[in-house]
Amino acid sequence: MTSAAPPTALMALAISVAPARQGQRLSSRMIESFKANAGAAGLRSVIAPVRPTLKERYPLIPIERYVEWRRADGSHFDSWVRIHEYIGGEILGPAPESMTLRAPVADWEEWTEMQFPEDGEYIFPGGLAPLVVRDGIGVHVEPNVWIVHRVAD
Ligand SMILES: CC(C)(COP(=O)(O)OP(=O)(O)OC[C@H]1O[C@@H](n2cnc3c(N)ncnc32)[C@H](O)[C@@H]1OP(=O)(O)O)[C@@H](O)C(=O)NCCC(=O)NCCS
Repeated sequence: MTSAAPPTALMALAISVAPARQGQRLSSRMIESFKANAGAAGLRSVIAPVRPTLKERYPLIPIERYVEWRRADGSHFDSWVRIHEYIGGEILGPAPESMTLRAPVADWEEWTEMQFPEDGEYIFPGGLAPLVVRDGIGVHVEPNVWIVHRVAD
């Protein structure tokens, strides 16, 4: 029997701030809490697979390009990635195939309140990439960006 390697990182899978409380820097405090908990547990880093908030407005741009976008002042183009960087996060890289959603077209039509009359690629509200419809099945491959926060010794 092999023994498992000791853990080294805490994964921050999702952070969500209620709409009424957004803009109050609560998400930074949550990330700092993740870092404090990781440090207390003897872990070296917090890794966040980040769903870039503004990517839904640019569904045709590959995540490999989007992750490189910067504003004139050097800060990241994406508001959620920017927050991570403000508090010391470093981009590890894009994850083009973070999550695959595969479902019958009827389900997609209900979820999106759209119609998909024939096979093809469709842009839909909130989608970070197109929906690919073929033979009655819709497949959406959602990209994201992995960010690491190193925990001080
Ligand atoms: C994405 C989300 C978590 C961001 O949290 P938020 O509370 O709305 O954002 P904040 O209050 O932290 O940020 C507001 C501003 O303060 C800035 N800010 C936050 N912390 C900062 C810090 N420590 N130093 C400097 N600026 C900071 C942010 O950069 C932003 O300003 P900017 O856009 O001009 O750069 C939130 O909008 C949300 O829950 N969205 C829905 C769910 C979601 O998409 N979650 C992400 C998937 S895991």
